[in-house]
Amino acid sequence: MSDSLVLTETRGRVGLLTLNRPKALNALNDELMDRLGEALLAFDADPGIGAMVLTGSEKAFAAGADIAAMKDYTHMDAFTGDFITRNWEALRRVRKPVIAAVAGYALGGGCELAMMCDIVIAADTARFGQPEINLGIIPGAGGTQRLPRAVGKAKAMDLVLTGRRMDAAEAERAGLVARVVPAARLLDEALEVATAIAGMSLPAVLMAKEAVNRAYESPLSEGLLFERRSFHSLFGTEDQKEGMAAFLEKRPPSFKNR
Ligand code: HXC
Repeated sequence: MSDSLVLTETRGRVGLLTLNRPKALNALNDELMDRLGEALLAFDADPGIGAMVLTGSEKAFAAGADIAAMKDYTHMDAFTGDFITRNWEALRRVRKPVIAAVAGYALGGGCELAMMCDIVIAADTARFGQPEINLGIIPGAGGTQRLPRAVGKAKAMDLVLTGRRMDAAEAERAGLVARVVPAARLLDEALEVATAIAGMSLPAVLMAKEAVNRAYESPLSEGLLFERRSFHSLFGTEDQKEGMAAFLEKRPPSFKNR
């Protein structure tokens, strides 16, 4: 539906989600985040889908949480309404990989949304920042936590305390972004990456994502143990037999569990 706040379509085994509030630069209001969560979880549950791409418009991935919608919130509105945990946590429940394809502004909640994805691919037009300080608030959807993990304390403090933006090249150098491509290539690049991932063995993909995310949640010894146990369990899959046989027979693998 073209009037929907989140457009969804499938491209082979890839679920494509497009934020669609262009006049407000994809400002993230409650309704949009409800629709996004539903769409992400629907693709996650769909056996025909192996990976997702989340994108915005040419001008903005998303310019942040909707300032007009939250300007009159009281402390009690924010606290009792569970702003923003209620409908922003869906992305954390998604087990299949989600690639953010970012062009234009990814600011505030928009930058936080990109950081919740598993891989960020940026157009050379992308601009990242946490400008909340200019509004008299701080990031509220993980910016103060995920940004230092991605780019280190020095740059995270700089961005969060000054509200300045960084361009795609700086974001790639800093480690926030996996790849930068010309704007015209952005969607094709993201879809190619997602298609490649969607062609891999699904159990291996799910475990790889889970294991990398463990690096953020646990001490090294626990993370290494988690990785090893996942690694061991994959020897119980047909796809491991197929992947290794295909390598030795010098042919592409044909994974069954996708
Ligand atoms: C509501 C927004 C918006 C936002 C843009 N718009 N960002 N509306 N919330 N976050 C609206 C504008 O009001 C305007 O509406 C239209 O989109 C176009 O924006 P302009 O400002 O006219 O465009 P431009 O001059 O090109 O500037 C682009 C911009 C600027 C630099 C991205 O819009 C901007 O600074 N936006 C706010 C960025 C921000 O502070 N984000 C953090 C929000 S707080 P009209 O009706 O006038 O055409 C946040 C907290 C997260 O995200 C906490 C957890 C969720």
